[in-house]
Amino acid sequence: MSSVRSSAGSAPVDLPITRTHPFDPAPQLAALREESPLCRLRYPDGHVGWLATSYDLARRVLVDSRFSIKPMRPPVGDPVTTAEVQEVERAQPEAEGALILLDPPQHTKIRRLQAAYFTVQRIGEHRAGLERLVGDQLDAMERQGSPVDFVRAFAAPVPGLAICAMLGVPGSDREHFERPTQVSEDPRSTAEEQIAANNEFRAYSHGVIQRKRAEPGDDLLSEVIATSDLSDAELAGLALQLFSAGHETTVSMLALSLLALLGDRRRWEQLCADPSLVDGAVEELLRYLTIVQVGAFTRTATEDVELDGTVVKAGEGITVSLSAANRDPSKFPDPDLLDLARDASGHVAFGHGRHICLGQHFARLELQVALAALTRRFPTLRLAVPSEEVPMYPSEQFLYGVHELPVAW
Ligand code: HEM
Repeated sequence: MSSVRSSAGSAPVDLPITRTHPFDPAPQLAALREESPLCRLRYPDGHVGWLATSYDLARRVLVDSRFSIKPMRPPVGDPVTTAEVQEVERAQPEAEGALILLDPPQHTKIRRLQAAYFTVQRIGEHRAGLERLVGDQLDAMERQGSPVDFVRAFAAPVPGLAICAMLGVPGSDREHFERPTQVSEDPRSTAEEQIAANNEFRAYSHGVIQRKRAEPGDDLLSEVIATSDLSDAELAGLALQLFSAGHETTVSMLALSLLALLGDRRRWEQLCADPSLVDGAVEELLRYLTIVQVGAFTRTATEDVELDGTVVKAGEGITVSLSAANRDPSKFPDPDLLDLARDASGHVAFGHGRHICLGQHFARLELQVALAALTRRFPTLRLAVPSEEVPMYPSEQFLYGVHELPVAW
């Protein structure tokens, strides 16, 4: 076909693509979306792939089964080729049963096992428990007294405790789940430390799974055990992935949402005055903030794929910028405006297609319950420092968020 362009296109864009405004994706993304929604992208390891920035293209790529979730072939010099890191990977419990690392048919099998638990209706059953948990945490924050760091006092504990309750383990077990992720994300960790953290998690989760096999409870782990033949390693991987996928994301959304609302008090006051706005506001905040940044999950073409006249060759990586897609003016008019009354449905903050966030209804419920309770309990809440002084995560980090958020009332 003569109209099909080869994959050797114009000069690649380099990562990181840097933000210049705390809430807006990098301006470069909007320029790219306008010029060419599919452009070449150079990853930090030097490998060149593709970047999709429009809403339409993002969704098409994410539903296209010719793209695999498996990482690109390891480029020359990539650390995964070293024996040491391979050993760490072998010891990694979350590699088994972790949806985000799997293609069909394993992905379909493991996702189906949990899908019934994550429907809107079943997740709705968590409302009363979440309201209690959020109320208790607000009591603790109030006792601590104004001012507090909202991240430590509320945003960090709530999602961890909520997932522990879902899995049917005590809230005090949070650290067992947090540790392997913390160690693997810390660039200073040695291979031995990573292996030790992974092995500790294995031992801990083995005990939990044995107890649940012997005495099932009314929780997700017991349900998956009862309805599947998953091995202990797969069950441990499934539990750890739910925790790691659902913890930091929700922490970031809670803290960043509050910063966006308090940064312009009219919005906070609007929510306090009209609680019926909360559910829609959560949807709009998810769209506007899109915390899963560019460079996050990259797909790999399993065969040559033509997209609007350009060929992504078999073996090439393609990254979808969810933040650029959610600011596409052809889908969301005046996209850079945070408009709490907007209909933001259809946003892709939870991804799209086969890997769309499994916990999306749980995350929504947590955010709705938390925001509603915060506006009721602390209508006078305000930032305790100028918003420019709030320390933000760097643009290259996988998730966007704030390190701390001092608030007063
Ligand atoms: C996948 C975002 C909360 C569990 C994803 C993906 C996104 C996302 C964008 C898709 C990644 C991709 O396609 O490559 C978010 C955001 C959250 C959130 C913004 C909070 C506001 C949660 C919670 C849970 C969870 C609370 C669990 C309780 C998962 C799982 C996957 C996933 C298991 C992998 C699904 C699969 O591969 O089939 N999430 N998430 N997430 N999320 Fe979430």
